[in-house]
Amino acid sequence: MTTYLTPFTFNNGVTIRNRYVMAPMTTYSANADDTVSDAEITYYRERSYGVGAVITACAYVIPNGKGFPGQISAHSDEYIPSLKRIADAIHDGGAKAILQIYHGGRQAVRELVPNGDVVSAIDSIAADGGVTRALTVEEIGEIVVAFGETTRRAIEAGFDGVEIHGANTYLLQQFFSGFTNKRTDRYGGSVEKRMTFLLEIIDSVNRAKVQYADDQFIIGYRFSPEEPEEDGITLDETVQLVDRLADEKLDYLHISLGDFRAEARRYSGEKENRIKILKRVIDGRVPFIGVGSIYSPEDAKEAMETGADLLALGRELLIEPHWVEKVAAGEPVSTEMDMSRDNEIPEPLMNMMKRNVGWVPGVK
Ligand SMILES: Cc1cc2nc3c(=O)[nH]c(=O)nc-3n(C[C@H](O)[C@H](O)[C@H](O)COP(=O)(O)O)c2cc1C
Repeated sequence: MTTYLTPFTFNNGVTIRNRYVMAPMTTYSANADDTVSDAEITYYRERSYGVGAVITACAYVIPNGKGFPGQISAHSDEYIPSLKRIADAIHDGGAKAILQIYHGGRQAVRELVPNGDVVSAIDSIAADGGVTRALTVEEIGEIVVAFGETTRRAIEAGFDGVEIHGANTYLLQQFFSGFTNKRTDRYGGSVEKRMTFLLEIIDSVNRAKVQYADDQFIIGYRFSPEEPEEDGITLDETVQLVDRLADEKLDYLHISLGDFRAEARRYSGEKENRIKILKRVIDGRVPFIGVGSIYSPEDAKEAMETGADLLALGRELLIEPHWVEKVAAGEPVSTEMDMSRDNEIPEPLMNMMKRNVGWVPGVK
């Protein structure tokens, strides 16, 4: 590999035109019934001409998993036409379409879930300060099934793959973390037991693939490498997780980071770059997507030193929807949002960025 602009072939034989993917980004912009809005379709289509694949905003798989206002849903068959619109828009630009599938757990929005019943691994305090109820084993089984059912819907809608959202402190991470999982049944305890839930989800998603798709259907898994809390995830635990995931039926692993340069914080080994450490653990078994603060072609070049096989671009594709095409053509790219330019960003997403000034460079 000399640059991320060369084609990439997954272990299942699927080739994408280059090694850049659009990072999943929630847009807060669905219609009132949680179907995709026209503005989101325009936003996706605009960004699908350069990257090899687009990973969508996370879609919730069951009503009590809804984590954002304006989040797209994939929790029942009624949503297949909405999902199909997203897949079609992404295919218009020639990128592979990957649906990110999700449950918010204790981060769910109380007013948006049935009966305000926010659920997680344990009874605790939710992100909003209210109560979180521990899921029963039966309910855990329902969520596992829901991830499989959502995968079937993604297949029927024409998606090329799904990405299981195991990152960013949402439900799967809540089960993996010793901070948010103190269960004493088979879903809690040792690091291995805290993986039970996510491994069952991976199986469920694979069962749907075997039943409704073929080998070409891509299944990815996203994780966050560390948590700051006392009992939270350490990089040593993530090393164990990644080692296990690399042997699962997955087509890629995707780290979640704000900056690809980040070094290990809670790790018994040498505190070097997190992507580098995990890439060594994976040891070529499965492709690894790096991410975080890649704004310029120079950043991408520097990121290559981590060994990441593919790079995800998030905020930079908000700033420059045609970043990949421009970089391929040797044209300059902005690394700050030009507020006077129409970048086809849905209004609720733009408003969210304006409320969090500093989140996306140049947003005022
Ligand atoms: C507006 C916005 C929404 C996001 N939504 C999601 C999401 O739905 N799922 C996810 O896994 N990560 C989400 N992220 C994190 C990004 O995928 C990415 O990891 C992060 O922005 C760092 O990459 P970047 O520096 O290229 O933006 C979001 C980030 C932003 C800026």
